[in-house]
Amino acid sequence: MRRNGRRACLVLTDAGTAEETQMKIAIIGAGNVGGALAKSSVRAGHSVTLSAKDPAHAEAKAKETGARAVRSAVEATKGAEVVILAVPYAAIDAVLGELGDALAGKVVIDVTNRVKRPAIAESVDGVSAAEEIQRKAPQAKVAKAFNYAFASRHADPKVDGMALDGFVASDDADAKAKTLALAGSIGFRPIDAGPLAMARALEALGILNIALQMQNGWPWQSGWKLIGPTPDKKS
Ligand SMILES: NC(=O)c1ccc[n+]([C@@H]2O[C@H](COP(=O)([O-])OP(=O)(O)OC[C@H]3O[C@@H](n4cnc5c(N)ncnc54)[C@H](OP(=O)(O)O)[C@@H]3O)[C@@H](O)[C@H]2O)c1
Repeated sequence: MRRNGRRACLVLTDAGTAEETQMKIAIIGAGNVGGALAKSSVRAGHSVTLSAKDPAHAEAKAKETGARAVRSAVEATKGAEVVILAVPYAAIDAVLGELGDALAGKVVIDVTNRVKRPAIAESVDGVSAAEEIQRKAPQAKVAKAFNYAFASRHADPKVDGMALDGFVASDDADAKAKTLALAGSIGFRPIDAGPLAMARALEALGILNIALQMQNGWPWQSGWKLIGPTPDKKS
């Protein structure tokens, strides 16, 4: 559904009906992923605030994308219902420390990949960043999504007219619904991937995608599409 040339965002309510909504989204990190998700989210009609370590970087990405730059992660999350963590995994402790209670009750989407080098295969170790984040921020409602596709696809998740799959793992119903709705609104085919523990599988998909680019000299533009009979869930 489109309104004023923008894709409308549908969220399933507790009553099982679909409700159109534009979300207030904070994106922490204004690099490749933060910028790309800001672009597609603004295009979808969401209201987006953007922060980075260096406020000038957020300012520059905001100009490119139509998001609103703010000077800190805390400021970005004020009034936001969804917070996207688009920072390196190594920066997660600093960001969670800075945000503290500001994440309580909010949907937090983790897009990070923990990449161990030089033996990248060792990154697939049965642990997930998303579960770690949930453990460190117990009052947040954490979902894992988008880590399995590259930033180029976050801005435009269509390949040859086909929507890439937007898998979402979470233990929280609100986080699941809002993240699926966001994924659909920016052009992914939203797919419920189950509980947050399935982030281990989604993070492995991300690592496999990275390893394939490195091994084959591919151009860092692929995402995942499950083919075969995988009908979209009807509400
Ligand atoms: N690149 C991809 O295609 C891709 C795809 C899927 C998942 N991911 C994952 O997504 C995350 C971001 O990747 P990226 O490629 O966007 O990285 P990036 O281009 O290096 O951007 C990282 C952003 O995080 C900000 N940042 C770092 N520490 C911070 C802190 N303490 N507080 C606030 N902001 C902080 C940086 O701020 P400054 O700009 O001021 O330095 C920068 O804007 C990573 O975990 C990565 O594994 C990446």
